[in-house]
Amino acid sequence: FKVPSIENEPMKTYAPGSVERRALEQAIAQMEQELPFEVPCIVNGKPVKTGNLAKQPIPSDHARHLCSYHEADVATVASAIEGALEAKARWESMPWSDRAAIFLKAADLVSGKYRYKLMAATILGQGKNAWQAEIDAAAELTDFLRFGVKFVEELYSQQPSKNSAGAWNRVEYRALEGFVLAVSPFNFTAIGGNLSGAPALVGNTIVWKPSPAATYSNYIIHQIFTEAGLPAGVIQFVPGPPAEVVAQAISHPSFAALHFTGSTFVFKKLWKDIASNLDIYKGYPRIVGETGGKNFHVIHQSAEIGNAVLQTIRGAYEYQGQKCSALSRVYVSSSVWNGGFKDLLLSQVAKIKVGAPQSFDNFMGPVIGRPAYDKIMGYIQKAKEAGGEILAGGTGDDSKGYFIQPTVIETKDPKMITMVEEIFGPVITVYVFEDKDFESTLDLIDSTTDYALTGAIFASDRHALLTATNRLRNAAGNVYYNEKCTGAVVGQQPFGGARASGTNDKAGSISIFYRFVSARSIKENF
Ligand code: ALA
Repeated sequence: FKVPSIENEPMKTYAPGSVERRALEQAIAQMEQELPFEVPCIVNGKPVKTGNLAKQPIPSDHARHLCSYHEADVATVASAIEGALEAKARWESMPWSDRAAIFLKAADLVSGKYRYKLMAATILGQGKNAWQAEIDAAAELTDFLRFGVKFVEELYSQQPSKNSAGAWNRVEYRALEGFVLAVSPFNFTAIGGNLSGAPALVGNTIVWKPSPAATYSNYIIHQIFTEAGLPAGVIQFVPGPPAEVVAQAISHPSFAALHFTGSTFVFKKLWKDIASNLDIYKGYPRIVGETGGKNFHVIHQSAEIGNAVLQTIRGAYEYQGQKCSALSRVYVSSSVWNGGFKDLLLSQVAKIKVGAPQSFDNFMGPVIGRPAYDKIMGYIQKAKEAGGEILAGGTGDDSKGYFIQPTVIETKDPKMITMVEEIFGPVITVYVFEDKDFESTLDLIDSTTDYALTGAIFASDRHALLTATNRLRNAAGNVYYNEKCTGAVVGQQPFGGARASGTNDKAGSISIFYRFVSARSIKENF
C-alpha cells in the first residue's frame, strides 16, 4: 500500500464569533464544570488506581486543580514493563498497514472529535492560550501522527540497490528488542503523543511517563490512541512519581531505548545512570533526547525593524517563553537599537496582556508552577544584582496564579547570568553591539553557552546572513532567517539541537524513526 499524500493540519484562527471559537469556549466551560478529573494509570488496557493520589494544578488559578492522578507504584511499573514486553510480539507482527491505520485514525480523532477537549485540557492545565493550544494540541500532534506514517513508509522502502547474480539482498527494519521508555514534558501536549507514538509506529511497545503538569491532556491522548484501535499493552500510561518510575524502568534488563524531552540536567543524569546499568542490558540502549536551549536572535544593521521587533516579541513571550526553542538572548546592532527597535519593542511589550489563558484577550498566561515562578523571578533578581537594567516587566503576581510580566533586560556584559543560563520564562536579555563588531558578536554568540538549539538572524544584507550562518554553524540545530526562533513545523523544519541541547535526532522528520528500529540485512541465494 501507499500512504496517501499528507498535508499539514490547517490552523484555525479563532476569530471573534467563529464556529471554532464557540466550540472551544464550550469545551472549556464544560471542562471547568466537570473538573477535577480522576486519572488512573493504564496498564494492559486497564485502569489501575494505586490510591497514591497527586494533583495536577491549574497554574492560572490556585483555587482549583485539573485532575487527581494515581501515581504508579513499584508493582504497577513492573506490570507495565512486563505487559509491554508481552504485547510486543503481536504488535510487531501486525501488518504495517494496520499499525499505520491506527495512527492515521488517531490523527483524525485529534483533528476532529477531540480537538477542543484536548485544547481545553492544554489551556487549563498547561496555561496555553487558544492559539498556542491550537499550534500544539491540534496541529502539531495531528502532524506528528500523519507525517510519522509517511516517514516510516519512506524508511521501510530504504533497500539495497544492488543484488549480485542469483541473489536478493534486502533489509528488514525490526522493532528494538525490549521496551522503550518515553519521558515527556509539560510544555507541548503534542510531544507526549510523539514520544510515545513514534516508537510504537515502528512496532515497539512503550512505557510512557508523562509530565505531572500535563497529566490530563496526555491521558486524553492515550484514550484517543485506544479509541483508534491501539491494542492493550502497546503504550502503558504510568504517571509519576517521575524519578522513581524512570529509575525502575532503566534498571530493567529489557530496557531498550529512552525517548526523552525535558531538562538538560535530568537528561545527563539519566544518560549516566543508563551507562552504569549497561552490563544488565541485552544491548546498547538507544538514547534520544531533546533538552534545553539558550536561543538567540542576532539583528544586523540591515534588518527590517518592524519585522525584527514583531518576531522578537513572538519568539520570546508566546507561551510565556516556556518553549525549549524560545528566544532568550538578543544581540542587536546599535544603529537598529537606537534607530527605532528599542522604542518599538518597549511600546509593544507594554501592550501585552497577561492573565487567564482561557480568555481570548490575553497574549500571555501563567508560568507552569511554583518552582518555575520562583526560578524565573530569581533570575530577574540576579540580573539586577549583576547590573542588568530592567527596561520592561521584571514583576510577577502569584496571588491567584503564576503570572510574570514580559521582561526585557539590557546588559553591557555579554556573559551576564541571564545571557548564559536557561530561564524558561518570559525574559529576554539584550546586548547592544557596535555595527562594526557584527562578526566578533557572532563569535560571542557561539561561545557564550553550551546550548545549541535555535537561533534567528535578521538582515536584509545577504552577506550578513551568509556570514552569520557560517560563523554560527554549531550554535543552533534550527536556524531561521528573518523569522522568530520558535515554531518549527512537522515535515517542514526537522526540529532538534546539538551540544547540550540534545542528540539532534530531529523530531518531525524521518531521522527520528531510524533510532527506534534495528535493521537486519538478509541475503538470499536463488
Ligand atoms: N518545536 C517547537 C518549536 O519549534 C518546540 O517551537
